[in-house]
Amino acid sequence: MLLEIKQYGDQVLRVACAKVEKVEIEHNTLAVNMLETMYAAQGIGLAAPQVGLGIQLVVIDIPEDEDEPAEKITVNGEEVDMRSIMPLVFVNPELEPYGKEESCTEGCLSVRNIRSQVSRPGRVRAKLHKLDGKVLEIDCGGLLARCLQHECDHLKGVLFTDRVSSAVKVTLAKRLKRMLNMES
Ligand code: NI
Repeated sequence: MLLEIKQYGDQVLRVACAKVEKVEIEHNTLAVNMLETMYAAQGIGLAAPQVGLGIQLVVIDIPEDEDEPAEKITVNGEEVDMRSIMPLVFVNPELEPYGKEESCTEGCLSVRNIRSQVSRPGRVRAKLHKLDGKVLEIDCGGLLARCLQHECDHLKGVLFTDRVSSAVKVTLAKRLKRMLNMES
Protein backbone atom coordinates (compact mmCIF):
# COMPACT_ATOMS: atom_id res chain seq x y z
CA MET A 1 0.00 0.00 0.00
CA LEU A 2 1.32 3.39 -0.97
CA LEU A 3 1.60 5.88 1.88
CA GLU A 4 1.49 9.65 1.71
CA ILE A 5 4.97 11.16 1.90
CA LYS A 6 4.89 14.17 4.21
CA GLN A 7 6.40 17.30 2.76
CA TYR A 8 8.64 20.07 4.06
CA GLY A 9 6.70 22.22 6.51
CA ASP A 10 4.86 19.28 8.07
CA GLN A 11 5.61 19.27 11.79
CA VAL A 12 6.03 15.49 11.94
CA LEU A 13 9.32 15.95 10.07
CA ARG A 14 10.59 17.98 13.02
CA VAL A 15 9.89 15.67 15.95
CA ALA A 16 12.44 13.65 17.89
CA CYS A 17 11.15 10.14 17.16
CA ALA A 18 10.38 7.62 19.89
CA LYS A 19 12.20 4.31 20.18
CA VAL A 20 10.34 1.18 19.12
CA GLU A 21 10.26 -0.69 22.44
CA LYS A 22 8.76 -3.87 21.04
CA VAL A 23 8.50 -4.85 17.40
CA GLU A 24 4.89 -5.76 16.60
CA ILE A 25 3.28 -7.18 13.46
CA GLU A 26 2.20 -3.67 12.44
CA HIS A 27 5.84 -2.59 12.23
CA ASN A 28 6.42 -5.29 9.62
CA THR A 29 3.38 -4.11 7.67
CA LEU A 30 4.57 -0.52 7.96
CA ALA A 31 8.03 -1.46 6.67
CA VAL A 32 6.57 -3.28 3.64
CA ASN A 33 4.38 -0.26 2.84
CA MET A 34 7.29 2.14 3.33
CA LEU A 35 9.47 0.12 0.93
CA GLU A 36 6.68 0.09 -1.66
CA THR A 37 6.22 3.85 -1.23
CA MET A 38 9.96 4.46 -1.48
CA TYR A 39 10.34 2.36 -4.66
CA ALA A 40 7.36 4.12 -6.26
CA ALA A 41 8.98 7.48 -5.52
CA GLN A 42 12.37 6.23 -6.72
CA GLY A 43 14.07 6.91 -3.43
CA ILE A 44 16.82 4.91 -1.72
CA GLY A 45 15.78 5.58 1.88
CA LEU A 46 12.67 6.49 3.87
CA ALA A 47 12.19 7.17 7.58
CA ALA A 48 8.91 6.68 9.50
CA PRO A 49 8.32 10.42 10.16
CA GLN A 50 8.25 10.90 6.39
CA VAL A 51 5.02 8.89 6.33
CA GLY A 52 3.68 10.65 9.41
CA LEU A 53 4.85 8.40 12.25
CA GLY A 54 7.20 9.69 14.94
CA ILE A 55 8.96 6.38 15.57
CA GLN A 56 12.54 5.23 14.97
CA LEU A 57 12.03 2.98 11.94
CA VAL A 58 13.92 3.28 8.65
CA VAL A 59 13.97 1.45 5.32
CA ILE A 60 16.89 1.65 2.87
CA ASP A 61 17.52 -0.01 -0.47
CA ILE A 62 20.55 1.06 -2.47
CA PRO A 63 20.68 -0.37 -5.99
CA GLU A 64 23.96 -1.97 -6.99
CA ASP A 65 24.79 0.49 -9.77
CA GLU A 66 24.40 3.47 -7.45
CA ASP A 67 27.20 2.34 -5.18
CA GLU A 68 30.12 3.55 -7.22
CA PRO A 69 32.84 2.57 -6.61
CA ALA A 70 32.07 -0.51 -4.53
CA GLU A 71 32.99 0.37 -0.95
CA LYS A 72 34.15 -2.11 1.63
CA ILE A 73 31.39 -2.89 4.06
CA THR A 74 31.74 -4.89 7.23
CA VAL A 75 28.77 -6.53 8.96
CA ASN A 76 29.32 -8.09 12.40
CA GLY A 77 33.04 -8.25 11.69
CA GLU A 78 32.74 -9.90 8.28
CA GLU A 79 33.29 -8.26 4.95
CA VAL A 80 30.19 -8.60 2.79
CA ASP A 81 28.66 -7.39 -0.44
CA MET A 82 26.42 -4.43 0.37
CA ARG A 83 23.62 -5.84 -1.78
CA SER A 84 23.42 -8.88 0.50
CA ILE A 85 21.91 -6.76 3.31
CA MET A 86 19.40 -4.92 1.09
CA PRO A 87 16.66 -3.98 1.59
CA LEU A 88 17.72 -2.83 5.02
CA VAL A 89 14.93 -2.34 7.56
CA PHE A 90 15.77 -1.35 11.11
CA VAL A 91 14.66 0.36 14.30
CA ASN A 92 16.48 2.32 17.01
CA PRO A 93 19.76 2.94 15.17
CA GLU A 94 22.90 3.98 16.99
CA LEU A 95 25.21 5.84 14.65
CA GLU A 96 28.80 6.90 14.94
CA PRO A 97 29.92 8.85 11.88
CA TYR A 98 33.69 9.21 11.52
CA GLY A 99 36.42 9.98 9.06
CA LYS A 100 37.09 12.81 6.70
CA GLU A 101 34.18 15.07 5.75
CA GLU A 102 32.95 14.55 2.20
CA SER A 103 30.66 16.77 0.19
CA CYS A 104 27.97 15.15 -1.92
CA THR A 105 24.66 16.07 -3.55
CA GLU A 106 21.61 15.05 -1.55
CA GLY A 107 17.90 15.14 -2.11
CA CYS A 108 14.95 13.98 -0.03
CA LEU A 109 11.50 12.62 -0.83
CA SER A 110 10.11 15.13 1.71
CA VAL A 111 11.85 18.13 0.14
CA ARG A 112 10.76 17.90 -3.48
CA ASN A 113 12.68 19.65 -6.21
CA ILE A 114 15.63 20.67 -4.08
CA ARG A 115 19.01 18.99 -4.27
CA SER A 116 22.07 20.38 -2.61
CA GLN A 117 25.63 19.72 -1.54
CA VAL A 118 25.91 18.43 2.02
CA SER A 119 29.12 17.77 3.89
CA ARG A 120 29.23 14.74 6.21
CA PRO A 121 31.83 12.36 7.62
CA GLY A 122 32.66 9.75 4.98
CA ARG A 123 32.29 6.67 7.17
CA VAL A 124 29.86 5.30 9.71
CA ARG A 125 29.84 2.69 12.43
CA ALA A 126 26.23 1.72 13.08
CA LYS A 127 24.31 -0.62 15.33
CA LEU A 128 21.00 -1.46 13.69
CA HIS A 129 18.20 -3.58 15.12
CA LYS A 130 16.38 -5.55 12.45
CA LEU A 131 12.69 -6.36 12.89
CA ASP A 132 13.45 -10.04 13.52
CA GLY A 133 15.54 -9.09 16.53
CA LYS A 134 18.93 -9.60 14.88
CA VAL A 135 21.49 -6.87 15.44
CA LEU A 136 23.71 -5.64 12.62
CA GLU A 137 26.94 -3.88 13.47
CA ILE A 138 27.96 -2.17 10.28
CA ASP A 139 31.11 -0.32 9.31
CA CYS A 140 30.79 1.34 5.93
CA GLY A 141 31.59 4.28 3.69
CA GLY A 142 30.20 5.46 0.38
CA LEU A 143 26.54 5.90 -0.36
CA LEU A 144 25.39 3.64 2.47
CA ALA A 145 27.26 5.76 5.04
CA ARG A 146 25.65 8.89 3.64
CA CYS A 147 22.21 7.35 3.42
CA LEU A 148 22.38 6.09 7.02
CA GLN A 149 23.29 9.57 8.25
CA HIS A 150 20.54 11.23 6.19
CA GLU A 151 17.84 8.78 7.36
CA CYS A 152 18.91 8.81 11.00
CA ASP A 153 18.81 12.61 10.90
CA HIS A 154 15.11 12.27 10.03
CA LEU A 155 14.60 10.40 13.32
CA LYS A 156 15.90 13.48 15.15
CA GLY A 157 13.77 15.91 13.16
CA VAL A 158 16.74 17.08 11.10
CA LEU A 159 16.53 17.60 7.32
CA PHE A 160 19.44 17.77 4.88
CA THR A 161 18.56 21.40 4.19
CA ASP A 162 19.58 22.15 7.82
CA ARG A 163 23.07 20.85 7.05
CA VAL A 164 23.94 22.82 3.92
CA SER A 165 26.55 25.57 4.14
CA SER A 166 25.35 29.01 5.22
CA ALA A 167 25.96 30.36 1.71
CA VAL A 168 23.71 27.69 0.20
CA LYS A 169 21.14 28.32 2.96
CA VAL A 170 20.79 31.88 1.72
CA THR A 171 20.09 30.76 -1.83
CA LEU A 172 17.65 28.07 -0.64
CA ALA A 173 15.82 30.32 1.83
CA LYS A 174 13.27 31.72 -0.62
CA ARG A 175 12.37 28.35 -2.09
CA LEU A 176 12.04 26.75 1.34
CA LYS A 177 9.85 29.62 2.56
CA ARG A 178 7.62 29.17 -0.47
CA MET A 179 7.27 25.48 0.39
CA LEU A 180 6.22 26.40 3.94
CA ASN A 181 3.56 28.76 2.63
CA MET A 182 2.21 26.09 0.35
CA GLU A 183 1.83 23.79 3.34
CA SER A 184 -0.05 26.22 5.56
NI1 NI B 1 15.19 12.39 3.44
